[in-house]
This record gives sequence, C-alpha cells and structure tokens, in this order.
Amino acid sequence: MPIYDFAVGQTNPETFPVEAFKDAALQAIDAEHENFNQYPGAKGHEGLRIAMALRESTREGIDVDPEEIAIMNGSMQAVTLVGQALMENKGDIVITEEFTYVGTINAYKGIGLKLLGIPMDEHGMRMDVLSEQLKRLEDLGTLPKFIYALTTYQNPTGTCMPLARKAQLITLAAKYNLPLVEDNCYGDVHFEGEKIPSMFAMDDSPNQIYIGSLSKILAPGVRLGYLLAKEPMYSKIVSQRFDAGSNYFAAAVVAQFYKNGIWEHCETANPVLKNKRDLVDTGLRKYLDDICVWSLPVGGLFMWLRMPDDVDMQKLALTANAKGFYYADGAVFHVDNEDRPYIRLAFGHVPDELIKAGIPVLAEAIKECRTSNAARDFDTLF
Ligand SMILES: Cc1ncc(COP(=O)(O)O)c(C=O)c1O
Repeated sequence: MPIYDFAVGQTNPETFPVEAFKDAALQAIDAEHENFNQYPGAKGHEGLRIAMALRESTREGIDVDPEEIAIMNGSMQAVTLVGQALMENKGDIVITEEFTYVGTINAYKGIGLKLLGIPMDEHGMRMDVLSEQLKRLEDLGTLPKFIYALTTYQNPTGTCMPLARKAQLITLAAKYNLPLVEDNCYGDVHFEGEKIPSMFAMDDSPNQIYIGSLSKILAPGVRLGYLLAKEPMYSKIVSQRFDAGSNYFAAAVVAQFYKNGIWEHCETANPVLKNKRDLVDTGLRKYLDDICVWSLPVGGLFMWLRMPDDVDMQKLALTANAKGFYYADGAVFHVDNEDRPYIRLAFGHVPDELIKAGIPVLAEAIKECRTSNAARDFDTLF
C-alpha cells in the first residue's frame, strides 16, 4: 500500500542542491579548517551571520547588522531561549495565535509558561480579541511576558498577516511595552504575490525579536537558525545559552553555499513547492469542494482544512491511516489541545504522484467518517 505522508512539515528533498552543497563543503573545509579547532561562541559563525544579514536585508528592505544576529541550532533553540529569557516566574503568560507550531507549544509549556491563544481569521491573529485580552490581563495585573506570532505562512494555517494588521500588532505591543517575537521560519518559502515586510522591518524598537531558520528552505538536518534582535534584548536572550555555540562546520558550509549565491536555491526550490501546493488544491477542489474549506497559502509548507462538524475526527485519523494517508490533526496545534474540526496537510516533501493519488484517498476517508452527505454549511476557514 502506498504511504501518503502529509503529516510532517519538511521541505522537498528532491530539490536539495547536492552539487552546490558539495562544492561549498569543499571550499569551506579548505578555507576554514583551522577554525574548526575553536568553539564558535554565543554569536556563531561570522560568515553565516553576514550571509543571513544580507538575506534578511534583501528580503525585508532594511539594514541588518550581522552583530545583531546569533546563529542557533535551528530556530527552535531561539524560540526556547526567548521563553527562558523573558519568563520571570513559572505560570507567566505568553500570547500566541490560538493555533500555533506544536514545537513552540511544547517548549513554552515545558519551561512553565502558560499559553493564551488568540482566535484567528484568514489574516492571522485577531487584533480585536488581542486588544480585549490585553486590557483584561492588565486589569488583573497579569500582563503577558511577550507575544509570539507567526505572521508569515503561518504554521499550521498558512495565513499571512497583512501590513495594516502588523502595524496594529506593533502598536498594541508598544502600548503595553511587550516584547514581540516574530518567528519567520518559512520566510524564504515564497510562491507568489508581494512579500509583506516583517514586523522587525516595520519597527526598530528593541522589543522586536525576530527568528529565522534554514530548515524550511534548505534542510532541517543542517540544524541552523538564528535570532535577530537589538541590544539590550539581544544579550538578554543570548546570555541564556550555555552550549558554546552552534555547529561551526555546518555553519561554514552553509555560509559558503550562500556566499556562492544567496537566492538561486529559492528560485529552484520554491516553484516546485508551489506546484505541490497547486496539486493539493486541484485535488481538494475536485474531491472535497462541497464538503471542506481550505487555505491556499502564498508560501510555506501547509494547507489548513476545515471539516464539517459531523466528521468524527478520531475516527478520521484511524480511517485515513488505515488507507495509508497521514496528516496532522488540528488539535495538536491548538494551544489548549482542544478538538477542532481541522487537519493540516504538509505538502512540501510529498512526491507529486503521491499528492495526486493521495487526495482522493483522504476524501474517501472524510466521507466515510461523516454522519450525513449534506454539503457544508460554512464558507470560511474559521
Ligand atoms: C513556526 C516554526 N518555528 C520553528 C520551527 C523549528 O524549526 P527549526 O528548529 O528546524 O529551525 C518550526 C518547524 O516546523 C516551525 O514551524
């Protein structure tokens, strides 16, 4: 039985730049082997910081100082360090989207933070609810320690926050003097349309914290990501690390890879990913148009599918898995792990043929797990 694995948020292994990476590795070893005998330190490989500053400044249209970047073991290390640095007491609150990255949920709950999820619409976190909640928390004397937001190609929903809403979020955070953490893990995985600047690019407050990654555009196995922040926030966060720095060898190879051309890989990888997204969309239109509503993300690796209320979500997981179809259940992304009628489809690493063959299998499973044949009675994603 074929396996249709839409569960894990990995990028496409088929477009990994094998030859360019080999060249970069040899060049890095020749140029830097003497440095491999040193610990990289908290800031990390200078060449990679320069390359990532160039990447961010080109994409975001601002000057980025490599001294404001710290290389991390994947962006997950930055996410965790931020929580450790900003939490004062166990039980402190952090605000996130109601549905957010499960790794962040686990990391923050794991260190003792309490997550308050803000409902979303198709443009991301809702500012009307955020505003009410901040007022309520202020009245209670329990303002959050920070706001963590996935504003671009959100995981799991695929939504992007428009510029005007980002400006509102910046204003609200400033009103309560809250650090604003923007996890732009998928920043380079862009398919179409205008790129909306990050909040880091819109606001030069030292309360802005930005997180980037090389996992989603290049490969999670390189374990490289980074933190971008201004002083004194930069030192406050980076002083929490006690690991002597990130893998210098991997950083040297990736720095060389990007030195040889910063955008070429995106230009090759992203159209292939976009095509995968389109194949999922075509399949969903053909087989589930009258039953489900889903997001059509302009970047990233995920589509978020809303089910009718009569789908038994537990049964759906078992039924789909029995047919070889795997997805991530919506509840794992809910900050309180509540059952919600959603599934996340991660299309980045699924071969095209398996996308085409897999979506009808999912549709069959969904139909088998309903109590009626009625058309859906909703038109929106949330
Ligand atoms: C929003 C978000 N942040 C962070 C990560 C962690 O990525 P990494 O540590 O590989 O950079 C992920 C991975 O799925 C993610 O989706």
